[in-house]
Amino acid sequence: MTNVLVVGSGAREVAIARKISQSNLEKSLFCVAPDINPQILNLCKDYMTSSLDRVDEIVGYALLKKISFVFVGPENPLAFGLVNKLAEVGIPSVGPKKEVAMIESSKAFARTIIDSCDKDKNPQRKEFTSTDSVVDFIEELGGNYVIKNDGLMGGKGVKISGEHLMSIDEGLRYATEIVENGGSFLIEEKLVGEEFSLMSFCDGLTCKHMPIVQDHKRAFEGDVGPNTGGMGTYSFSDHTLPFLEKNDVLEAQKTNELVAKELFKKTGTPFVGILYGGFMLTKNGVKVIEYNARFGDPEAMNVLSILKTDFLSLCLAIIGGSLSGMDVKFENLSTVCKYAVPSGYPDSPKKGFLVGCDITDENLYLASVKLDGGALLAGGSRTAAYIGKEKNIVEAERACEAGVKKISGDLFHRKDVGTNALINSRVKRMKRILG
Ligand code: AMP
Ligand code: GLY
Repeated sequence: MTNVLVVGSGAREVAIARKISQSNLEKSLFCVAPDINPQILNLCKDYMTSSLDRVDEIVGYALLKKISFVFVGPENPLAFGLVNKLAEVGIPSVGPKKEVAMIESSKAFARTIIDSCDKDKNPQRKEFTSTDSVVDFIEELGGNYVIKNDGLMGGKGVKISGEHLMSIDEGLRYATEIVENGGSFLIEEKLVGEEFSLMSFCDGLTCKHMPIVQDHKRAFEGDVGPNTGGMGTYSFSDHTLPFLEKNDVLEAQKTNELVAKELFKKTGTPFVGILYGGFMLTKNGVKVIEYNARFGDPEAMNVLSILKTDFLSLCLAIIGGSLSGMDVKFENLSTVCKYAVPSGYPDSPKKGFLVGCDITDENLYLASVKLDGGALLAGGSRTAAYIGKEKNIVEAERACEAGVKKISGDLFHRKDVGTNALINSRVKRMKRILG
């Protein structure tokens, strides 16, 4: 009997818990999270509500429930060292220790690791702890720059010139704000191209790659508005994207492999978990935008919903260091996933209103919700995701749109995610950029 503890209660963790529960192996599921997600609750033998920074409480719970391994969904507990504390009492995790989870929690560390193993994938950049010489560096970059708060910001700490920062003064103001809050930041060259995500299962030595997914970080249709945790994602049945050549995919795969190796070399700690490379294809080739130390959300829904290999066996191979002997297979289906989010998201989201949906629908993934008696209330962050999974992208988008529309409440979603119109415009844009 394998007792699996899932940490977190968002849509990504629904995807993880659901896939583990579908395994042929004998298992029991447990969950610890600040809120009760009714879809996860229905799959669990036991569920503890706890803030995820209470590391000792979570470790105590894992010992009490004789947990075989822990699957850590979100980034914060990885950065706090939950995996380190679990390892001290002999409980393994799918999720890296904090010394290597830094690939996500520090953008400066990530850039240093890439410099050591695959330098060409880095944009020009400089680290700052004060606003001294900020203007000089912005001018050196020709005014095309990105400012990144160097901490865990839930995808919301990045501001881009020409989009969020309309003048050097505005850039300087954002830099000042970060410094005044005690933070540090990076200024990077603004890369121009199409983004794609490549996630790899990683046991410390071997990486097994997942299908490529494209996320939509901007809040509103037409890729405008503030950055979010991700409004929607799609993947193609051939596991690549129409604007990528085979070699671009191979390069991204190679980079994930090099980064996993370099992390071990630099820290002596193997990266065990999900390594998520965020890439951009530019006129100068494939570049790294960021690394995450966990499944993407919503990307987890795209890949796990088409994973053919038994997921619990795969998790056991990740913690057992035997991934090289595992045949990891995905169905040849296209997927489109869209988030319904509260009005005002991400800057001033409404919350506490009633959300209506069929929680038994296997294509629905509840995220930021609160249970109030029998009622489901919006928690304020992304509310629920819906996935369409079909032979081709057009049908997958249609199925997704039909499902996401049915989620009721003071919500909105991006209708353009996964549509032919948007994908074709991206392919055309990429052709223009590549010349
Ligand atoms: P991150 O939190 O690093 O993923 O950044 C959020 C979003 O900002 C990315 O998905 C990109 O759209 C954008 N971004 C980050 N870094 C750069 C860069 N160097 N050039 C252009 N866009 C970037
Ligand atoms: N969807 C992007 C992320 O999970 O960081």
